[in-house]
This record gives sequence, C-alpha cells and structure tokens, in this order.
Amino acid sequence: MAPKIAVIGLGYLGATHAAAMAELGFEVLGLDIVPEKTQALSRGQTPIYEPGLEDLLARHVAGLPGSSGRLSFTTSFAELAEFGDIHFICVNTPQKPGEYACDMSYVDSAVESLAPHLTRPALVVGKSTVPVGSAGRLARRIAELAPAGEAAELVWNPEFLREGFAVEDTLRPDRIVVGVAGGGGTAATGGESRAESLLREVYAKPVAEGSPFIVTDLPTAELVKTAANAFLSTKISFINAMAEVCETAGGDVLKLAEALGHDDRIGRKFLRAGIGFGGGCLPKDIRAFMARAGELGAAEALSFLREIDAINMRRRVYMVELARETLGGSLLGKRIAVLGAAFKPDSDDVRDSPALNIAGQLHLQGAEVTVYDPKAMENAKRVFPTLRYADGVTEAAQGAHAVLHLTEWREFREIDPAALGDVVSERHLLDGRNTLDPVLWRKADWTYRALGRPTA
Ligand code: UDX
Repeated sequence: MAPKIAVIGLGYLGATHAAAMAELGFEVLGLDIVPEKTQALSRGQTPIYEPGLEDLLARHVAGLPGSSGRLSFTTSFAELAEFGDIHFICVNTPQKPGEYACDMSYVDSAVESLAPHLTRPALVVGKSTVPVGSAGRLARRIAELAPAGEAAELVWNPEFLREGFAVEDTLRPDRIVVGVAGGGGTAATGGESRAESLLREVYAKPVAEGSPFIVTDLPTAELVKTAANAFLSTKISFINAMAEVCETAGGDVLKLAEALGHDDRIGRKFLRAGIGFGGGCLPKDIRAFMARAGELGAAEALSFLREIDAINMRRRVYMVELARETLGGSLLGKRIAVLGAAFKPDSDDVRDSPALNIAGQLHLQGAEVTVYDPKAMENAKRVFPTLRYADGVTEAAQGAHAVLHLTEWREFREIDPAALGDVVSERHLLDGRNTLDPVLWRKADWTYRALGRPTA
C-alpha cells in the first residue's frame, strides 16, 4: 500500500508540498498549529499567493466538489501521527531578531510535539533549511521521545523551491537530495535503507521524469541547501558589484552579464543586476550559514559571505541616494511613486523585500511615498502601515516627482510611458530592476536611470 503522507507546517513550503503530494497520488494530511490556516486551506484557499497552488487545492482538498479528496488538514499531532507513515517537517526557520543565527524553535517544537505520538515505525523527513548538524541532533531526540524508538527514523530532504514557481519546482525538482544517517546503504551494506526506499516511492514520478535522486549523509544534505543559497547570493552580489564598477567606468552591466552568461561555466541565470536580493530565504540563509560556520570554528571559510551581504545591502542605500540626486539633492516633501513591494514578481511576499525597504527609507527621509504592487499590497500595509498605497500605477504616479520601478512585475513592462507622463509632475524614472525599455521611456521625454548602465 502507498505510504500515507503527513506534512507539518503549512506556509509556502508545506502548503505547496502537501498539495503536490496529493497531486502525485498520495493520501495527505497537513498540520498547522494556526487553526485559521487549516480552516482556510480546508476551504481551498491559500494563505499565500502562489501560481497554481489554488488549482491543486481545488483538485484535491477533501469535501470540495469534484476533488480527489486526498488532501485534508488538522491541528492535532495525535491525529497526524495516527495517520502518517512519512512526516515531512516544513516549518519556518527565520532569522533570530538581532542575530545572524536562525531560529530553530519551530523545527524543535514540531519534533517535540510529534515524536511522543510515534508508536509505530515512521519516517520523519526534514525539509526546512537548518544549520548543519541539526538533523543529527533531531534524530537523537526523536529516538529518545518516540515510543517506537529507533523505528522512528529521521532523514533530511532539503527543499529548493522558488517562490512563484513553488508548484512547478515541487512536482519537477532540479534534483532530490536525501540525507540519511551514515550516508545510506551500499551494495556492501545490503542495498538501500528502508528510508531511502520509501522516499524513492514518494518521488518515483519526478525521478522517472528525469530528476536526479542523490543520497548523502545527513550533514551533506543540510549543506547542499545552504551552499546552494550561498552560491546564488554570490552570483547576484557579483553582478551587482560589476554594476558598481560599470557606473564608475561608463560600462553597461546588462551587456556585460549577457556576454559573461554565454560562457557555460558561468551561465546566464542569476546575473540580473539591480537592487539586490531579498525574501525569506537568501538573506537569512547566508547569515545563518556564517553564524553556524563560526560555531563550528570555520568562520574564515565563509567570511566572503559578509561581503556578499554588504554588497547586497548597499544596493538599497544606493537606490535611495540615486532618488535624492535625481530630485535635486533633497527628498523632503518630494512625491515618489514606488512600483512594487514584493521581494520579487509573482509573489505577495514582502519579507526582507528590497522594494519595501527602499520605500521605507525614502519615507523616513521625508519623501511622500505612494506604493503600488499587483499582489503584495495587504502584506506591505501590514509591515509598513505608514506608507501611502494606491490601487494602480496611474494612481500611485499622480503628481509624482519621480517613479521608482522596484519589483519587475510584467504589468510594469506594459506601462505606456507617454500616458503615465501626463499624470506625473516630473518625468523621472529610476529602474531598480533593469527590465524597462530605456528607449521607450526616453522617447516619451522621461529621464531614465538604471543601476550599472550609462545615463543616456
Ligand atoms: C531562493 C532560491 O532560489 C531557492 O532555491 C531556495 O529554495 C529559496 O531561496 P526565492 O527566495 O523564492 O528562492 O527567490 P529567488 O528567485 O531565488 O530570488 C531571490 C532574490 O534575488 C529576489 O529578491 C530576486 O529579485 C533577486 N534576484 C534574483 C536578483 O536580484 N537578481 C537575479 O539575477 C536573480
């Protein structure tokens, strides 16, 4: 019989994972300690904006007309343990306030709440991003707490999904990494372990479609995730450093990135210069990685990440400076339209969003800022209630002295610069994402400034 799947934590990662597992044909029970979340999901509503997720919920949530009925939700760990053969831990590991280290309390409390109910053989699968060494510690804790003892096993299976592509990335992952204690079975030790076989069954479809399945030991699996995010952050900060050089040398970072990207060893992706990276993962993951390396006595190995972080944060300050310079040296009383609040397009997530951070800095320095974002308005208002918000681009730009393009939504590429020029006070456009067409904007008499590109 196919294993039954339990998912703990129903945020970006967990809600998507639960729905994707139901789509793959498994019976799934999702748990969150926040009843409003499970109630909304039971009605087929997502707590987050994620393309394709609501469709999956409609197809599988039990009780919805025409659904497969394979997906249900609960707030009870006892019910979850009773139901599941495999328990995926998908809770958040945010940055601790005022520290670099990540907050493991949600993972720890998921394990503490689940393990005492594990009375029969069960597989616990960690998916959250954690400091290396956590899996080994949690495995020991589960063995202590679970009545099933060593029959309650822990493996680590990091998740690499990108927001905005979460469904696609979960159903068709680039790779599936599974860390098992001791590094998994070999021909010499008698073939694959029970844990490995179970996960091969879970991921049979993506593997058949070409996703590589890589078995490692526990620390390597944990490290694959943090190393991947460190590398991606490095690529972005590298190209942003080149943007800084381009500005002083008179070069064009877009052309530079294009030409670099043709070298297969470098690759074209993640070389988009702009206001830098944000979101719930990259910034906090590189900081947590540095903190953990410090604890392990390997701080020097990751000291370059400090510079990666610094380059990234400098982008935000620089954008504010550029706005000040464009507006004649002072932001006081200047009306600024900010297009975008989400940390990237196709997401309503404003966690550590460069766009919202820049809007906030402008506001604190005396500008009258009006923000518009196609999907992230509610979250932005919650985080930054003192900013002004508009229902559309035209309303945000009414009477503006400058327009800042800070999240590259498709909608913004379709703006008619001539029409927008009629509602603003001054035609200054600052493109923080390098995705608008300078020729079009300049033709409509706007000054167009972008990061790392010639001014005219
Ligand atoms: C990231 C990783 O990509 C994913 O594998 C991991 O599981 C979680 O963290 P995500 O946070 O969803 O995913 O966003 P991503 O698409 O990686 O973008 C992160 C940030 O980098 C965004 O703010 C984006 O605007 C910025 N970025 C990305 C750039 O500034 N330039 C680029 O070239 C690419």
